[in-house]
Amino acid sequence: MATRSYEKDDLTVFWDSTRCIHTGICLRALHSVFNLKKRPWVDVDGADADQIIATIHKCPTGALRYTRGGESEPAPEQTTMVPMHDGPLLVRGNLRVLDPETGGVLAEETRLALCRCGKSENEPFCDNSHRRTHFTEAPHGETAARAEAQSPADICPPQDFQLE
Ligand code: SF4
Ligand code: FES
Repeated sequence: MATRSYEKDDLTVFWDSTRCIHTGICLRALHSVFNLKKRPWVDVDGADADQIIATIHKCPTGALRYTRGGESEPAPEQTTMVPMHDGPLLVRGNLRVLDPETGGVLAEETRLALCRCGKSENEPFCDNSHRRTHFTEAPHGETAARAEAQSPADICPPQDFQLE
């Protein structure tokens, strides 16, 4: 199963292995909860709910999500897009990802890592294939490396998923 869940009190933490690109951000931010040497690797008793939620918000790909009291995490007001060097486009906001062929909604999220190399086997999401294929982005010149817009935002990747 791709998504596992971990519960305590009114908090449920979800981890989607297909969306995790192993940044290690969660491990470094809250080692008492996110620890690869333990099984399960997520121990929700290792910290209080606010600490866990603050760490989940740092996960750039949306692999980690949560509900608290049945409510999903609130979306940020601004939509931000930050390209990761030689990697995916990291997007935050009130997001809907649309299928480029049908226009159907593929995902409604607050955090995403969208593939820019075109090699992911989980398009349009990054699955770390950019590392395996040694993806190198084209130079951006003076282009701003960070973009912001109002939420909600619809994202419709190009049909070949090359987001450069
Ligand atoms: S922060 Fe998110 S993408 Fe990075 S290792 Fe943790 S779960 Fe995976
Ligand atoms: S950018 Fe990561 S798999 Fe394409």
